[in-house]
Order: sequence, then C-alpha cells, then structure tokens
Amino acid sequence: MSETIKEMDSEQNSSGSQTTKGETEERIRADWVEYDFDGQPALSVEDLDVYYGDEQAIQSVSMDIPEKSVTALIGPSGCGKSTFLRCLNRMNDRIKAARVDGNIEFHGQNIYDDDVNLVELRKRIGMVFQQPNPFPKSIRDNIAYGPRKHGELDTGLLARLLGRDDSEEEEELVERCLKQAAIWDEVNDRLDDNALGLSGGQQQRLCIARCLSVEPEVILMDEPASALDPIATSKIEDLIQDLAEEYTVVIVTHSMQQAARISDQTAVFLTGGELVEYDNTDKIFENPESQRVEDYITGKFG
Ligand SMILES: Nc1ncnc2c1ncn2[C@@H]1O[C@H](COP(=O)(O)OP(=O)(O)OP(=O)(O)O)[C@@H](O)[C@H]1O
Ligand SMILES: [Mg+2]
Repeated sequence: MSETIKEMDSEQNSSGSQTTKGETEERIRADWVEYDFDGQPALSVEDLDVYYGDEQAIQSVSMDIPEKSVTALIGPSGCGKSTFLRCLNRMNDRIKAARVDGNIEFHGQNIYDDDVNLVELRKRIGMVFQQPNPFPKSIRDNIAYGPRKHGELDTGLLARLLGRDDSEEEEELVERCLKQAAIWDEVNDRLDDNALGLSGGQQQRLCIARCLSVEPEVILMDEPASALDPIATSKIEDLIQDLAEEYTVVIVTHSMQQAARISDQTAVFLTGGELVEYDNTDKIFENPESQRVEDYITGKFG
C-alpha cells in the first residue's frame, strides 16, 4: 500500500472508526490468527467478547494457548491485553462493570461454567502483576501462606499441639519455590525478614515463587518487568524461559524486544480489542501478514 493511500486511510479512520493515530484499516483474515503448533493447548479461547458497560474491550477473540511454552500478548495501550489476560482465570469477575461472553476451555471444561470453583481455578492458573505485591509478612510466610490456607500445610502452635506439625514440609516447600524462582541464593539467610525489605526485582521473583507454591499449571503475567531496571528485568526474563519448561506462561509486555527474546508465540491485539495476528514469534517479528502488525512492530503507531 502506498504512503498516500495509507495517509488517506488514517484520515478517514480519524473520522469515526476505531484506530489509533497512524494506524491503517484493513480486514483481518481468519488464517492470520490460526496458529498451528505441536503439542496440546493448555487453554482454548473461543469467541471471547468482553464489555465494560456499553464499551466493548475484546472482540470475538479465539485462540489456543500451547502448554509449556511462553505466549506473548502485545499491542498498543488500551487494546485489551490486560482484559484478555484477566479472562483466563476469571479475574474480570471482580470488576463489576465487566461482562464476558464466550468459552475458555481448560482441561475440557469451560472455566465460565457456573459450577467452577474459582479458588481452585486461580490456584491452577496463577497470576503475577505489574507491581510486585508481596504480603507484608516474612519471606517464608509469603510462600507458605497459600498452601497453609488451602490446608496443604499445617504449621504453628496448634498444629504442634495436635501433633500435625508440617514444619519440615514447609521448609522444603519454601526452599523449592524460592529456588525455582531464582531468588533462593539471595534470601536463604533471611527467610524471617519482612518481604517488603527486598528490592523491586527480588519482590517480583518472590511473587513468582509465591505463585508457584500452590502448584499452578498456567502462570499469567501482566507486564511483570516493566517496573524493574534492566538487570532485574533480565533475571525475570531468564526465569520465565526456565519456567516454561514446566509451566504454561502467558505474558503481556510493552517491550517488543522482550516478546521477541522470550516468547515462543506472539498474539498481536490492536485497537478495539481485536486479535489481528497470532503466530510463531519469529514469523510475527520477521514477516507478519498484517500491514497493521508490521506498522505496529516497526513503531509507526502505538
Ligand atoms: N475496570 C474497567 N472499567 C471500565 N473500562 C475498563 C476497565 N478496565 C479496562 N477498561 C477499558 O477497556 C479497554 C482495554 O483496557 P486494558 O486495560 O485491557 O488495555 P491494555 O491493552 O492492557 O492497555 P495497557 O497497555 O495500557 O495496559 C480500554 O479502553 C480501557 O479503558
Ligand atoms: Mg494492561
């Protein structure tokens, strides 16, 4: 498409349709979002629509997310990445104005069925947020909290008196999770210190360790490194790639470089909450089908 036509398109778009400045209009082709991969999907999303009141934030998105790999969600601000991510473990249920239509299948069950146990669901599909949010408790308690709450660990005075003391199991669990989250070496001599005394990057790895403590299968991450410096970011990126050997990771990121470095497949959302293209990460960054995706990743808008 020539520059002139593109410019005309953007001008037309500015008078009504939903595109950002510099974004051209094009028809999305069904095969741009059909991603063929080996192995099993961890999650299958079908015809997902999300509304906040009358505003539609996600439009008829369907995609399969492969297990044990890293899936990146990218796109300009406001295109619905966080909204989509939150749908994957029903976090949007907590937002009053949000309404979700469609199916998300996890182990053969639609997670939006009425009989789904949300506590169990969010245990199996955990979440890590942009701002590290450790509990104002000791490092050890941050990790042990979930398993204690779910009744998988019984510790403390009462447990001791009743002869159900799981302190040893707790010790092992804390060590395993902190090691998995690549923070053990930095904190093993101060497990009883308050977690709020850690640096931002350490807090984020602690939050990942906390998420791992309840043995999830899927880990959702919404810009987990955007509040961190380059060294802390690089530790989180290495960690994510290691985790993907065992877990399914879905990550929202604003950094194209990060998506290109760590993800196996990339889904590009554009204005209006549409999934425009979904494919192998190399294909998306080297030779996308959609002109809008190419414009977005080369920085022409967004
Ligand atoms: N709680 C809410 N109530 C009403 N509207 C919302 C709410 N959360 C998000 N939206 C709207 O839904 C759309 C998508 O928002 P979302 O936060 O999912 O985008 P995003 O792609 O994650 O953006 P960013 O990159 O800035 O984080 C936006 O128009 C936003 O204003
Ligand atoms: Mg967001």
